[in-house]
Amino acid sequence: MSFTIAGTGSYLPQKVVTNDDLATFLDTSDEWISTRTGIRSRHVAVAETVTEMAVAAARAALADSGSAPEQLDLILCATLAGEYITPSLSCMVQKELGACCPAFDLNAACSGFLYALDVAAGYFARGRVKKVLVVCAEAMTRLMDWTDRSTCVLFGDGAAAVVLEPGEDLLAIRLSATGNSDALHIPHVSGNCPYSGYDRGPVSLVMNGQEVYKFAVAAMSQGVEKAAAEAGIALEDIALVIPHQANMRILEAARKKLRMPAEKIASNIGQCGNTSAASLPILLDQLNRQGRLNKGDLLALTAFGGGLTTGACILRWARERKKAEEPAF
Ligand code: UT7
Repeated sequence: MSFTIAGTGSYLPQKVVTNDDLATFLDTSDEWISTRTGIRSRHVAVAETVTEMAVAAARAALADSGSAPEQLDLILCATLAGEYITPSLSCMVQKELGACCPAFDLNAACSGFLYALDVAAGYFARGRVKKVLVVCAEAMTRLMDWTDRSTCVLFGDGAAAVVLEPGEDLLAIRLSATGNSDALHIPHVSGNCPYSGYDRGPVSLVMNGQEVYKFAVAAMSQGVEKAAAEAGIALEDIALVIPHQANMRILEAARKKLRMPAEKIASNIGQCGNTSAASLPILLDQLNRQGRLNKGDLLALTAFGGGLTTGACILRWARERKKAEEPAF
């Protein structure tokens, strides 16, 4: 027993910031950002809190699945940083929804959605749950050094959720972790304990872009290959690859390694940038609402992120194709 995806939802902040907007205060250009990354604009949470984004996405997913919050047996949030260190983002989502189930967060950076799916699969396998809400929400733009052009142009904010019910549609899932803080890290808050005597500096993301890039290309392609092999399917059987949206060049290099046609690689990086854990489920929800997922489609999800972590899975889409609610990007 694993699960089936019964509903999806997402939320993107109202404010859109284009590359040209960034060029008004950074030594950068639309030309550099779009050719090096594929990103043209990103959503920035100005008015919204992480909790508000998460709750909006959760409500959309509950509505899509026809579920009520009282029916939930577990809420699982993947995020780098909710509103508070404690209470967890999941507890805040539970409160706002009026649910009454256990709730906890996990942090696997951009691979968080896949880590959360695997944890949820364990709950279903043990027969502990009938309805699980997985929410991924990130306010990446609050974790950036906005004077560092090599990182702040890459990220955006957003949230997405799925409702899971008992089923057999997770055909294979693989996770990995290789501890490494040199490639990418975000320092923690320092506090003002008079005995600790050190200052960790600002809470902003530090990254060796080229090291992460090389790791990412291998991780994304090998993840799909290994998950497909574990599921007992050929790469040609995959209807759509839904990859973590970090850089269009990473997606293209991974696509070439997999020898897959461009139309089988889904992407919204142009409009969203890298939204960390929210990246995969935002794209999944958009594809669902654009009527691009057909009943029986085999989907390959693949991600890499800080940690360094990776995740990949093969999912069968079991719902009828939706009449397009949203325009295709
Ligand atoms: O979820 C995990 C998130 N992280 C990633 O996925 C990151 C993976 N890495 C990447 O996507 C790419 O390495 C980047 C997009 C971050 C950088 O692209 P790159 O082609 O590896 O550029 P680079 O770091 O080699 O920098 C080339 C030049 C440098 O200038 P010099 O030293 O050659 O004069 C940078 O200072 O580009 C400069 N540069 C910029 N120029 C204009 C770096 N950022 C910018 C910018 N605008 N925003």
